[in-house]
Amino acid sequence: MKKRVFSGIQPTGNIHIGNYLGAVKNWVASQSEYENIFCVVDLHAITVPQDPKALRQKTRELAGLLFAAGIDPEQSALFIQSHISAHSELAWILNCFIPMGWMQRMTQFKEKSEKLKEQVSTGLFDYPALMAADILLYDTDYVPVGEDQKQHLELTRDVAQRFNAIYGDTFKPPEPVIAKTGARIMGLDDPTRKMSKSEADPGHAVNLLDSPREIIHKIKRATTDSLKEIRFDESRPGVNNLLTIYQLFSGLSREEIAARYEGKGYGDLKKDLGELVVEGLRPVQTRYQELTQDPAYIDSLLVASANRIRPIAERTLRRAQERVGLG
Ligand code: TYM
Repeated sequence: MKKRVFSGIQPTGNIHIGNYLGAVKNWVASQSEYENIFCVVDLHAITVPQDPKALRQKTRELAGLLFAAGIDPEQSALFIQSHISAHSELAWILNCFIPMGWMQRMTQFKEKSEKLKEQVSTGLFDYPALMAADILLYDTDYVPVGEDQKQHLELTRDVAQRFNAIYGDTFKPPEPVIAKTGARIMGLDDPTRKMSKSEADPGHAVNLLDSPREIIHKIKRATTDSLKEIRFDESRPGVNNLLTIYQLFSGLSREEIAARYEGKGYGDLKKDLGELVVEGLRPVQTRYQELTQDPAYIDSLLVASANRIRPIAERTLRRAQERVGLG
């Protein structure tokens, strides 16, 4: 029996190389080892204001990009969260078992709510309950994510254990899988901040659908420092970030990269990296253009996935409902 993997991604803003290197690339690489379920989390997206038409369009675009990046419908289910109502239903139940204090500790909520001020919804606060529901519904073994999701995964494990302690074995506490390299790609404009979908500065992130010109321009303008030497060094976040991106797109080791750039300048590194990223994303972009010729095909894959896995989610939901005494 293969172990089961679950992970999700929000259809807001543009998917960038941080999402790709920190999560999606790893989902694709380990597909054949596991039974995989990947989810475009549109219910999470509405925790902040969204334009309805744009949300529906972004949801399809993201699904198309995930297939284009190599998610294979033969090996992996890829579906839209709102197509399986058990996610919302289990989230409500879990809500009732998560102390407010646990939620109040979530750093991502603190950061997001500071930006949004009085627009903060209860849904944004409660976001981790829905994420826990996503994962626990499928008796998930592993959750491959970037570093920023670690705290949400801990909360997921905690609520599973708390519920199990009260009602007996109901949920499987999942293991997070966070890659050693690439789990926290930083912004190109400001390498002290995580690359994020919601940053307004156009030089912040390389998006998967950026043109070669945009990619090269953004990397050329990336913030570095006034030193010269090119080496992996956490205390120099700008160069370190560029080298990390280089490592993941080239597949070379750190030593090989350091040797290649000995005695060279930032200009050389940025020029090569721009070309490397353009070439690395080219097959994804080409495949995306092909796939989106027929949007009905993408929709049919999403519906087929949801239909295939819905019984797993409903079985878990029923188990939880029975334990609690519902119905
Ligand atoms: P989201 O949509 O913000 O990001 C999707 C994935 O990309 C990773 N990521 C990064 N990795 C490296 N460097 C970065 N700068 C970077 N930015 C984002 C994220 O860690 C994530 O793995 N709450 C989740 C979506 C979600 C989910 C789930 C994930 C909903 N339910 C269940 C796992 C399991 C989110 O907002 O991801």
